[in-house]
Amino acid sequence: MLRDRFFTRGRDFLGVDTPILCGAMTWVSNPQLVSAVCNAGGFGVLAGGNTPTDILINQFKETRELTNKPFGLNLVTVSPAYMPQLELLKDLRPSHVVFAGAVPKENEIAMAKDAGAKVLCFAPTKVMAKRMLKFGADALVIEGMEAGGHIGHVSTMVLLQELLFTTPEVPVFVAGGVATGQMCAHLLLMGAAGVQFGTRFAIATESTVHDGFRNAFLRAKSRDAVTCNQIDSRLPIVSVRSLKNEGIDEFSRLQVKLLHEIDEGKTTKEEALEQVEKFWMGALRRAAVEGDIDRGSVMAGQSVGLVDKVQSVKEIIDELNDEIENTLQTVRGSLSCC
Ligand SMILES: Cc1cc2nc3c(=O)[nH]c(=O)nc-3n(C[C@H](O)[C@H](O)[C@H](O)COP(=O)(O)O)c2cc1C
Repeated sequence: MLRDRFFTRGRDFLGVDTPILCGAMTWVSNPQLVSAVCNAGGFGVLAGGNTPTDILINQFKETRELTNKPFGLNLVTVSPAYMPQLELLKDLRPSHVVFAGAVPKENEIAMAKDAGAKVLCFAPTKVMAKRMLKFGADALVIEGMEAGGHIGHVSTMVLLQELLFTTPEVPVFVAGGVATGQMCAHLLLMGAAGVQFGTRFAIATESTVHDGFRNAFLRAKSRDAVTCNQIDSRLPIVSVRSLKNEGIDEFSRLQVKLLHEIDEGKTTKEEALEQVEKFWMGALRRAAVEGDIDRGSVMAGQSVGLVDKVQSVKEIIDELNDEIENTLQTVRGSLSCC
């Protein structure tokens, strides 16, 4: 297969057949989805999110029981549960740790590596990527603002030029706005070690999300996945991409309320930021688990417009593999006639 040549780096780094990652998704990437992705030949990532340590330990062990393949553990540096989760690494000894949120500290990356893990870091900007590499990251996930969930401000298209083309020293995985094997093939040709999906896997058969959440994805067009932005620089927040609904207005109102409380000295900036983070985790749970798609946060990327059917994880990965191979063959054909 022609794709083997382009899969080698991602395969070696992740220890999988197909270097397609199902990125961690809080309340979605649980042992069932993660193990299904791994057993189908891809790479699943268990979401740390705000999960209390005792529950995360059980989820990690459950995933281990459901698959004997490698999988990642995602830690979000801005989560209130981050530090206790980080302490778990020495006992859990995951094969891969995926840091998201802000730039992890050098000693935090060292903690993951001392526990035997390969470290991937989410890089939403070039500056952050360079710091992460200096701190010891083994690979980057460059995620453009087309993605679902918490996002940066730079598009995948620009990150490709800023980071994929300029960072040959480590494997670079591309995320944000990708839903087809055709696109994966072209990213591999550009030098990507693999591609990370979120939105498409979120509604796979094995995903335990509420049917209301799943149906909202099926109905949505790309333009329905909008960003929720910061309204005042005194309360810096990370933008979130989700399907537009009443919950987004509610978030704007929360920001106004917190800003007033900061002004009046009723709350500190740190407490306000924690409340913002809790809002998202709570709102995502309401949508993904309870099915409240009007007031909950239906986090989805713009690629939601390309997702129009529910498939099993295996069907998705098999289809991606076929599309990747066909696209690479087509490109080879068109180049050989030049
Ligand atoms: C519902 C949802 C929840 C997410 N939660 C997380 C998370 O907890 N940690 C994380 O690193 N990324 C999270 N992401 C981002 C995904 O891991 C992935 O990088 C992104 O979805 C890829 O872009 P796409 O949405 O265009 O497929 C989330 C994405 C979605 C759609």
